[in-house]
Amino acid sequence: MQRRVFVTRELPERGLNVIKERFDTEVWGDYAPPPKKVIIEKASKVDALTTLLSDKIDAEVFDAAPNLKIVSQFAVGFDNIDAEEATKRGIYVTNTPGVLTNTTADYAWALLMAAARRVVEADKYVRNQRWKVGWHPAMLQGRDIFGATLGIVGLGRIGAGIAERAKGFNMKVLYHDVVRRPEVEEKLGIKYEELDALLKQSDFVTLNVPLLKSTHHLINEEKLKEMKKTAIIINNARGPVIDEKALYKALKEGWIAGAGLDVFEQEPTPTTNPLLTLDNIVVAPHISSSSFETRSKMSAMVAENLVSFLEGKTPPNLVNKDVVNIRRPGFE
Ligand code: GLV
Repeated sequence: MQRRVFVTRELPERGLNVIKERFDTEVWGDYAPPPKKVIIEKASKVDALTTLLSDKIDAEVFDAAPNLKIVSQFAVGFDNIDAEEATKRGIYVTNTPGVLTNTTADYAWALLMAAARRVVEADKYVRNQRWKVGWHPAMLQGRDIFGATLGIVGLGRIGAGIAERAKGFNMKVLYHDVVRRPEVEEKLGIKYEELDALLKQSDFVTLNVPLLKSTHHLINEEKLKEMKKTAIIINNARGPVIDEKALYKALKEGWIAGAGLDVFEQEPTPTTNPLLTLDNIVVAPHISSSSFETRSKMSAMVAENLVSFLEGKTPPNLVNKDVVNIRRPGFE
Protein backbone atom coordinates (compact mmCIF):
# COMPACT_ATOMS: atom_id res chain seq x y z
CA MET A 1 0.00 0.00 0.00
CA GLN A 2 1.29 3.45 -0.93
CA ARG A 3 2.06 5.86 1.89
CA ARG A 4 -0.07 8.99 2.01
CA VAL A 5 1.20 12.56 1.93
CA PHE A 6 -0.53 15.91 2.19
CA VAL A 7 1.32 18.70 0.37
CA THR A 8 0.20 22.07 1.74
CA ARG A 9 0.81 24.02 -1.52
CA GLU A 10 1.57 23.42 -5.17
CA LEU A 11 5.36 22.93 -5.26
CA PRO A 12 7.56 23.25 -8.34
CA GLU A 13 7.14 20.24 -10.61
CA ARG A 14 10.58 18.78 -10.19
CA GLY A 15 9.95 17.63 -6.64
CA LEU A 16 6.19 17.34 -6.82
CA ASN A 17 6.36 14.82 -9.68
CA VAL A 18 8.65 12.60 -7.62
CA ILE A 19 6.33 12.83 -4.64
CA LYS A 20 3.31 11.99 -6.78
CA GLU A 21 5.09 8.95 -8.24
CA ARG A 22 6.03 7.54 -4.86
CA PHE A 23 3.13 8.54 -2.60
CA ASP A 24 -0.62 8.64 -2.56
CA THR A 25 -0.55 12.44 -2.79
CA GLU A 26 -3.03 15.17 -2.02
CA VAL A 27 -2.01 18.75 -2.88
CA TRP A 28 -3.70 21.88 -1.48
CA GLY A 29 -4.30 23.78 -4.71
CA ASP A 30 -5.13 27.25 -3.36
CA TYR A 31 -2.58 30.06 -3.49
CA ALA A 32 -3.37 30.82 0.17
CA PRO A 33 -2.40 28.36 2.91
CA PRO A 34 -4.82 25.74 4.19
CA PRO A 35 -6.49 26.83 7.43
CA LYS A 36 -5.15 25.14 10.55
CA LYS A 37 -8.27 23.01 10.89
CA VAL A 38 -7.72 21.66 7.38
CA ILE A 39 -4.10 20.83 8.17
CA ILE A 40 -5.26 18.98 11.28
CA GLU A 41 -7.89 17.07 9.38
CA LYS A 42 -5.51 16.10 6.56
CA ALA A 43 -2.68 15.28 8.97
CA SER A 44 -4.95 12.82 10.75
CA LYS A 45 -4.97 10.62 7.65
CA VAL A 46 -1.42 10.76 6.31
CA ASP A 47 2.05 9.37 6.90
CA ALA A 48 3.81 12.50 5.69
CA LEU A 49 3.30 16.23 5.34
CA THR A 50 5.18 18.69 3.20
CA THR A 51 4.89 22.19 4.59
CA LEU A 52 5.73 25.83 3.97
CA LEU A 53 6.88 28.32 6.60
CA SER A 54 3.37 29.78 6.78
CA ASP A 55 1.92 26.46 8.05
CA LYS A 56 1.93 26.20 11.82
CA ILE A 57 2.76 22.62 12.72
CA ASP A 58 2.56 22.09 16.45
CA ALA A 59 1.38 19.69 19.17
CA GLU A 60 -2.24 20.20 18.14
CA VAL A 61 -1.45 18.87 14.66
CA PHE A 62 0.71 16.03 15.96
CA ASP A 63 -1.94 14.97 18.50
CA ALA A 64 -4.44 14.53 15.67
CA ALA A 65 -2.02 12.57 13.48
CA PRO A 66 -1.35 9.09 14.82
CA ASN A 67 0.29 7.89 11.58
CA LEU A 68 2.36 10.96 10.79
CA LYS A 69 6.04 10.09 10.57
CA ILE A 70 7.71 12.91 8.69
CA VAL A 71 7.25 16.63 8.05
CA SER A 72 9.27 17.72 5.05
CA GLN A 73 9.56 21.51 5.06
CA PHE A 74 10.05 23.54 1.87
CA ALA A 75 12.41 26.12 3.47
CA VAL A 76 15.64 26.24 5.38
CA GLY A 77 14.02 27.92 8.41
CA PHE A 78 11.58 25.76 10.34
CA ASP A 79 10.43 27.97 13.22
CA ASN A 80 6.83 27.27 12.16
CA ILE A 81 7.30 23.64 13.24
CA ASP A 82 7.56 22.59 16.86
CA ALA A 83 10.51 20.27 16.28
CA GLU A 84 10.82 19.46 19.97
CA GLU A 85 7.25 18.17 20.09
CA ALA A 86 7.88 16.25 16.87
CA THR A 87 10.93 14.57 18.39
CA LYS A 88 9.00 13.48 21.47
CA ARG A 89 6.54 11.71 19.20
CA GLY A 90 9.16 10.18 16.92
CA ILE A 91 8.23 12.39 13.96
CA TYR A 92 11.05 13.36 11.60
CA VAL A 93 11.41 16.99 10.53
CA THR A 94 13.49 17.92 7.48
CA ASN A 95 14.35 21.19 5.72
CA THR A 96 16.08 22.43 2.54
CA PRO A 97 19.45 23.93 3.51
CA GLY A 98 22.30 24.78 1.16
CA VAL A 99 20.41 25.04 -2.13
CA LEU A 100 19.03 28.48 -1.31
CA THR A 101 22.18 30.00 0.20
CA ASN A 102 23.38 31.92 -2.86
CA THR A 103 19.95 33.07 -3.95
CA THR A 104 19.20 34.39 -0.46
CA ALA A 105 22.63 36.04 -0.12
CA ASP A 106 22.08 37.69 -3.52
CA TYR A 107 18.78 39.09 -2.31
CA ALA A 108 20.28 40.51 0.88
CA TRP A 109 22.64 42.34 -1.46
CA ALA A 110 19.76 43.45 -3.68
CA LEU A 111 18.04 44.99 -0.65
CA LEU A 112 21.28 46.52 0.58
CA MET A 113 22.04 48.15 -2.75
CA ALA A 114 18.45 49.26 -3.29
CA ALA A 115 18.31 50.86 0.16
CA ALA A 116 21.78 52.42 -0.06
CA ARG A 117 21.25 53.93 -3.51
CA ARG A 118 17.50 54.60 -3.15
CA VAL A 119 16.65 52.54 -6.21
CA VAL A 120 12.94 52.14 -5.42
CA GLU A 121 12.51 55.80 -4.50
CA ALA A 122 14.24 56.79 -7.74
CA ASP A 123 11.94 54.55 -9.77
CA LYS A 124 8.87 56.16 -8.16
CA TYR A 125 10.38 59.61 -8.65
CA VAL A 126 10.53 59.10 -12.39
CA ARG A 127 7.18 57.32 -12.78
CA ASN A 128 5.28 59.78 -10.55
CA GLN A 129 6.51 62.69 -12.64
CA ARG A 130 8.51 64.26 -9.87
CA TRP A 131 11.56 64.42 -12.20
CA LYS A 132 11.17 67.99 -13.33
CA VAL A 133 14.83 69.05 -13.44
CA GLY A 134 17.25 67.05 -15.58
CA TRP A 135 20.12 66.89 -13.11
CA HIS A 136 20.86 68.36 -9.69
CA PRO A 137 23.78 67.78 -7.31
CA ALA A 138 21.42 67.04 -4.40
CA MET A 139 19.05 64.74 -6.27
CA LEU A 140 18.42 61.43 -4.44
CA GLN A 141 21.81 61.18 -2.77
CA GLY A 142 22.51 57.77 -1.27
CA ARG A 143 25.21 55.98 0.72
CA ASP A 144 28.42 54.55 -0.72
CA ILE A 145 28.83 50.79 -0.56
CA PHE A 146 32.33 50.38 -1.97
CA GLY A 147 34.85 50.50 0.87
CA ALA A 148 32.19 50.70 3.62
CA THR A 149 31.97 48.48 6.72
CA LEU A 150 29.53 45.59 6.67
CA GLY A 151 28.40 43.90 9.90
CA ILE A 152 26.93 40.43 9.54
CA VAL A 153 24.86 39.14 12.45
CA GLY A 154 24.78 35.36 12.13
CA LEU A 155 27.55 33.71 10.15
CA GLY A 156 25.77 30.61 8.88
CA ARG A 157 25.82 29.67 5.21
CA ILE A 158 23.85 32.75 4.13
CA GLY A 159 25.85 35.16 6.31
CA ALA A 160 29.07 33.74 4.89
CA GLY A 161 27.66 34.08 1.35
CA ILE A 162 26.94 37.76 2.01
CA ALA A 163 30.51 38.23 3.31
CA GLU A 164 31.94 36.57 0.22
CA ARG A 165 30.10 39.00 -2.05
CA ALA A 166 31.38 41.97 0.01
CA LYS A 167 34.90 41.26 -1.21
CA GLY A 168 33.95 42.61 -4.63
CA PHE A 169 33.02 45.89 -2.94
CA ASN A 170 36.29 46.12 -1.04
CA MET A 171 34.40 46.22 2.25
CA LYS A 172 35.65 45.75 5.75
CA VAL A 173 33.53 42.87 7.05
CA LEU A 174 32.71 42.24 10.71
CA TYR A 175 30.55 39.43 12.00
CA HIS A 176 28.91 38.33 15.18
CA ASP A 177 27.62 34.88 16.04
CA VAL A 178 27.18 32.71 19.11
CA VAL A 179 30.10 30.64 17.89
CA ARG A 180 33.29 31.98 16.38
CA ARG A 181 34.31 30.51 13.04
CA PRO A 182 38.07 31.01 12.70
CA GLU A 183 38.29 29.02 9.45
CA VAL A 184 35.73 31.33 7.78
CA GLU A 185 37.41 34.41 9.31
CA GLU A 186 40.64 33.37 7.71
CA LYS A 187 39.19 32.30 4.38
CA LEU A 188 37.16 35.48 3.88
CA GLY A 189 39.35 37.95 5.78
CA ILE A 190 36.57 38.96 8.15
CA LYS A 191 36.69 39.91 11.82
CA TYR A 192 34.68 38.73 14.84
CA GLU A 193 33.10 41.40 17.06
CA GLU A 194 30.71 41.46 19.97
CA LEU A 195 27.25 42.53 18.80
CA ASP A 196 27.40 46.01 20.34
CA ALA A 197 30.81 46.73 18.81
CA LEU A 198 29.65 45.49 15.43
CA LEU A 199 26.55 47.71 15.52
CA LYS A 200 28.59 50.77 16.49
CA GLN A 201 31.08 50.35 13.63
CA SER A 202 28.98 49.13 10.71
CA ASP A 203 27.65 51.19 7.81
CA PHE A 204 25.47 48.24 6.78
CA VAL A 205 24.14 45.52 9.08
CA THR A 206 22.63 42.31 7.73
CA LEU A 207 20.65 39.91 9.94
CA ASN A 208 21.14 36.24 9.17
CA VAL A 209 20.16 34.39 12.31
CA PRO A 210 17.41 31.80 12.73
CA LEU A 211 14.39 32.80 14.79
CA LEU A 212 14.89 31.40 18.28
CA LYS A 213 13.88 32.58 21.75
CA SER A 214 17.33 34.17 22.00
CA THR A 215 17.05 36.03 18.67
CA HIS A 216 13.47 37.30 19.08
CA HIS A 217 13.74 41.14 19.04
CA LEU A 218 17.53 40.82 19.06
CA ILE A 219 17.49 44.23 17.40
CA ASN A 220 15.48 46.46 19.73
CA GLU A 221 15.49 50.16 20.66
CA GLU A 222 18.69 49.89 22.62
CA LYS A 223 20.54 48.17 19.76
CA LEU A 224 19.20 50.54 17.09
CA LYS A 225 20.42 53.48 19.17
CA GLU A 226 23.93 52.02 19.12
CA MET A 227 24.06 52.09 15.32
CA LYS A 228 25.45 54.91 13.21
CA LYS A 229 22.95 57.57 12.13
CA THR A 230 24.05 56.85 8.55
CA ALA A 231 23.65 53.07 8.87
CA ILE A 232 21.30 50.81 6.93
CA ILE A 233 19.90 47.55 8.31
CA ILE A 234 18.89 44.58 6.17
CA ASN A 235 16.68 41.73 7.36
CA ASN A 236 15.96 38.75 5.15
CA ALA A 237 16.08 36.22 8.00
CA ARG A 238 12.88 36.32 10.07
CA GLY A 239 10.71 39.36 10.87
CA PRO A 240 10.61 39.01 14.67
CA VAL A 241 14.42 39.31 14.86
CA ILE A 242 13.75 43.08 14.73
CA ASP A 243 11.30 44.86 16.98
CA GLU A 244 9.31 46.61 14.23
CA LYS A 245 7.95 49.32 16.54
CA ALA A 246 11.48 50.24 17.54
CA LEU A 247 12.60 50.14 13.90
CA TYR A 248 9.83 52.54 12.92
CA LYS A 249 10.97 55.02 15.57
CA ALA A 250 14.59 54.60 14.52
CA LEU A 251 13.82 55.30 10.86
CA LYS A 252 11.36 58.10 11.54
CA GLU A 253 13.53 59.89 14.10
CA GLY A 254 16.79 59.37 12.22
CA TRP A 255 18.65 57.09 14.65
CA ILE A 256 19.59 55.14 11.50
CA ALA A 257 19.35 56.05 7.80
CA GLY A 258 17.47 53.17 6.20
CA ALA A 259 16.34 49.59 6.08
CA GLY A 260 15.71 46.78 3.63
CA LEU A 261 13.19 44.20 4.79
CA ASP A 262 12.11 40.99 3.12
CA VAL A 263 10.49 39.69 6.31
CA PHE A 264 8.00 41.05 8.84
CA GLU A 265 6.71 40.27 12.32
CA GLN A 266 3.40 39.37 10.71
CA GLU A 267 3.23 38.06 7.13
CA PRO A 268 1.66 39.34 5.02
CA THR A 269 2.33 42.60 6.81
CA PRO A 270 -0.86 44.69 7.14
CA THR A 271 -1.05 47.64 4.73
CA THR A 272 -1.50 49.75 7.87
CA ASN A 273 2.01 48.89 9.09
CA PRO A 274 3.51 52.36 9.80
CA LEU A 275 6.84 51.21 8.35
CA LEU A 276 5.19 51.31 4.92
CA THR A 277 4.66 55.07 5.22
CA LEU A 278 8.41 55.70 5.27
CA ASP A 279 10.54 56.47 2.21
CA ASN A 280 13.81 55.30 3.74
CA ILE A 281 12.85 51.66 3.63
CA VAL A 282 12.78 49.07 0.85
CA VAL A 283 10.37 46.17 1.31
CA ALA A 284 9.65 42.80 -0.25
CA PRO A 285 7.17 39.98 0.49
CA HIS A 286 9.54 37.29 1.86
CA ILE A 287 10.98 36.23 -1.51
CA SER A 288 14.72 36.00 -0.88
CA SER A 289 14.99 32.41 -2.08
CA SER A 290 12.56 32.92 -4.94
CA SER A 291 14.46 32.20 -8.14
CA PHE A 292 13.18 29.62 -10.62
CA GLU A 293 16.32 27.53 -10.21
CA THR A 294 16.39 27.55 -6.41
CA ARG A 295 12.71 26.93 -5.82
CA SER A 296 12.97 23.97 -8.18
CA LYS A 297 15.97 22.59 -6.28
CA MET A 298 14.13 23.10 -2.98
CA SER A 299 11.24 21.00 -4.24
CA ALA A 300 13.65 18.24 -5.28
CA MET A 301 15.13 18.29 -1.80
CA VAL A 302 11.71 18.07 -0.15
CA ALA A 303 11.04 14.98 -2.26
CA GLU A 304 14.46 13.49 -1.57
CA ASN A 305 13.88 13.82 2.18
CA LEU A 306 10.50 12.11 1.92
CA VAL A 307 11.69 9.33 -0.36
CA SER A 308 14.79 8.47 1.64
CA PHE A 309 12.64 8.16 4.72
CA LEU A 310 10.21 5.99 2.79
CA GLU A 311 13.12 3.73 1.89
CA GLY A 312 14.06 3.36 5.55
CA LYS A 313 17.09 5.66 5.39
CA THR A 314 17.77 8.68 7.57
CA PRO A 315 16.72 11.71 5.48
CA PRO A 316 19.72 13.79 4.38
CA ASN A 317 18.35 17.00 5.87
CA LEU A 318 16.98 15.85 9.19
CA VAL A 319 16.82 18.75 11.67
CA ASN A 320 15.69 16.92 14.84
CA LYS A 321 18.52 14.41 14.86
CA ASP A 322 17.58 12.91 18.25
CA VAL A 323 14.45 11.48 16.67
CA VAL A 324 16.37 8.55 15.20
CA ASN A 325 16.25 6.93 18.65
CA ILE A 326 12.47 7.31 18.92
CA ARG A 327 11.39 6.01 15.54
CA ARG A 328 7.67 5.52 15.15
CA PRO A 329 6.51 2.07 14.22
CA GLY A 330 5.20 1.61 10.70
CA PHE A 331 8.20 2.73 8.61
CA GLU A 332 10.36 -0.31 8.27
C1 GLV B 1 12.84 31.09 3.83
O1 GLV B 1 12.66 32.04 4.54
C2 GLV B 1 13.47 29.88 4.28
O2 GLV B 1 13.65 29.72 5.49
O3 GLV B 1 13.82 29.05 3.44
